[in-house]
This record gives sequence, C-alpha cells and structure tokens, in this order.
Amino acid sequence: MDNLKKMKILAIETSCDETAAACIGENFEVLSNVTKTHVEHSVFGGVVPEIASRVHTKLILPVVRKALEDASLSIQDIDGIAVTYGPGLIGSLLVGLVFGKTLAQVLQLPFIGVNHLEGHLFSIFLNRKNLAPPLLFLLVSGGHTELIYMEDYGRYKYLGGTLDDAAGEAFDKVAKMLGLPYPGGPHIDRLAREGRKDFVRFPRARTKGYDFSFSGLKTAVLYYLRKQSREFIEAHISDIAASFQEAVVDMLLEKTRIAMDELKCEKLAVVGGVSMNSRLREVFNKEFRNSEVYFPEPQFTIDNAAMIGAVGMFKLKKGEKSPFTLGANPNLKLT
Ligand code: KG4
Ligand code: ZN
Repeated sequence: MDNLKKMKILAIETSCDETAAACIGENFEVLSNVTKTHVEHSVFGGVVPEIASRVHTKLILPVVRKALEDASLSIQDIDGIAVTYGPGLIGSLLVGLVFGKTLAQVLQLPFIGVNHLEGHLFSIFLNRKNLAPPLLFLLVSGGHTELIYMEDYGRYKYLGGTLDDAAGEAFDKVAKMLGLPYPGGPHIDRLAREGRKDFVRFPRARTKGYDFSFSGLKTAVLYYLRKQSREFIEAHISDIAASFQEAVVDMLLEKTRIAMDELKCEKLAVVGGVSMNSRLREVFNKEFRNSEVYFPEPQFTIDNAAMIGAVGMFKLKKGEKSPFTLGANPNLKLT
C-alpha cells in the first residue's frame, strides 16, 4: 500500500506531570514521540497538581506542534486523535482532553479516549512487530503496581494490585527520606549499584493472592533510619538503597512468578516507570530465562503519548471512537 495512505494517529497524554504528544502509524510504529517532563515540581519533593495543570496549559500546543513536525506530518495527514481521559490528576487530564476534543471536532476526525493504564500495556508493542498476546503484564509505576493478564488485545484479566503505595511511590518516598531529589527511583537505582543488598534485611510484606503492599517496607526504612546517626546514613546510603531496592524487587518477583506458573504463561512484559530499574531487569531476566521477558524501550517506560497512540490506533482500526461528551475520570480502572 502507498505509504501516504496508511493511517496515522495523533496522541496526547497529560495525566500527571508529563506533557506529551506523539504520532503513531498503523503497525504501532512510532513516527514521533515528544515528552516534556515538568521540572517545576522537583523542589517540592512531589507533583503539585495545580502547578501541573498550569504547565500543561503552557506546553500543550508547542508539544503537539513538535510531534507533527518530528513526524514530518501536517495536521491534515492525521486520521484520528487519541487522548488519555484517566486515571490521573483531574486538572492535568482536562488540559489534554479538552485540547484533543476541540482539535478532533474542528478537523472532523474521530476522537478516541484512552485509559492511561491500557496505554502502559500497549507500550510493549511499540516498534515491535512480532509480539502479540497472550501476555502477562507487571505494571509498575509511580501510581500503579498491577498484575494483568492480556488474553487478547483489549481483553484483560485483572489479577491483583497494591493495597497501599505503588512501587514507584515507595521508591520516591524512601528516596526523600534519604535526602535524594524527586523522582527518587533513578537515584536509588544508581546508588544501589555500589551498595550491599544484604546490608539490612527489610521485611517483605505477606499479602494474599496477587496483591502487593509497600507501606510496611516504607515504614520499616523510616524506623531504621531514625535509629541511625546522620554520619552512618551518609556512609551507608548505597547499602541502604540496595537493601530497600532488593526488598521491592523480591516482592514483585514473588507474585509475578506465581502468576506465570498458575497461568502457564510463556510471555511476560514489565512496563511503567519502575521497569527502568536495573536490578529489577537483571533479576527478572535471570529468573524468567526460560520464558520470554520484555521491557519497553526507555522512552516508553515513563509516561508518554506514543503508548496512548498505540491504543488509539488499535481502536481506530476496529472503528471504535468516543463521544465528545466523554469526561475526564481520575479513578478510571482497567476492565
Ligand atoms: O510510569 P511513570 O512515569 O509514572 C506513572 O504513571 O506513575 O513512573 C514514574 C515512577 C517514579 O516513581 C520513578 O521514581 C520511578 O517510576 N522510576 C524508577 C526508575 N526510573 C523511574 N524506579 C526505580 N528505578 C528506576 N530506575
Ligand atoms: Zn503512567
């Protein structure tokens, strides 16, 4: 088929503190992927919702323009507009959603509302032609820790998730206790490479079924740190980081292993920001060496619009679109 006739989608993602836009082709090939992470939050040690909304408002137009430019496309080449409508921060979601809906209405294009969580799952298919469901997913990000079985594209079995903090949230909170900047996950990862994993044996939560819990571990680190002098913590920061990280990876591994066995699943994908963690990648690659283990490209692990475009393209090809009355849903679940 003539390349010019192939469908292309413009995707927008503004659920948290990344303003992102991307252009995606028919086979989930990434034509462009622009992600602007808000730097304004770092001094506050976490995302400030009001600031995020304001920054999205400022960045949305230049980011969308850049996505079209990088793909060498004009807006007239686009066949549909996909936008995240939840879960996420309400003020942040609304900026992308209203922008995308308006654009779709003016251009008379199909508008497709996308679940951010489904986007993270589809991140594994970007630029990867030969991978298809069934597939077990471990979704680990700043807001989510979930085990989901994808029977087919768009068909999910939710196995379990965190009862309290998400894995990334635990990384960020422990990093804050250690005086590291936000987001703390990458800093803990870096420090842990030089640390002893067996320096402190932090407790692993015992949860039922496929549920996870990280708040006990977080509190254990807090109590441990309270008992130490500042000099001791400074001298052993890498060891403490490595010991904490090992506990998180252990807990993620245990439930994932049970799910792979029970479902007799041969393919595993680990997605979301925490899937960047180098120890997690090392352990999972080793433990599941007899299965197929997939991680997204780094640019598709953190929140991005390419993954939203992949879901949008899947729906567009099926002829699915959303009504213009679709609202933002901060607590949207994956069903
Ligand atoms: O997927 P993401 O961008 O946002 C959500 O949808 O929540 O994930 C961000 C999370 C943050 O908590 C960050 O600390 C964590 O991913 N993260 C990491 C690493 N890189 C990012 N955690 C551990 N190790 C890393 N290398
Ligand atoms: Zn996310």
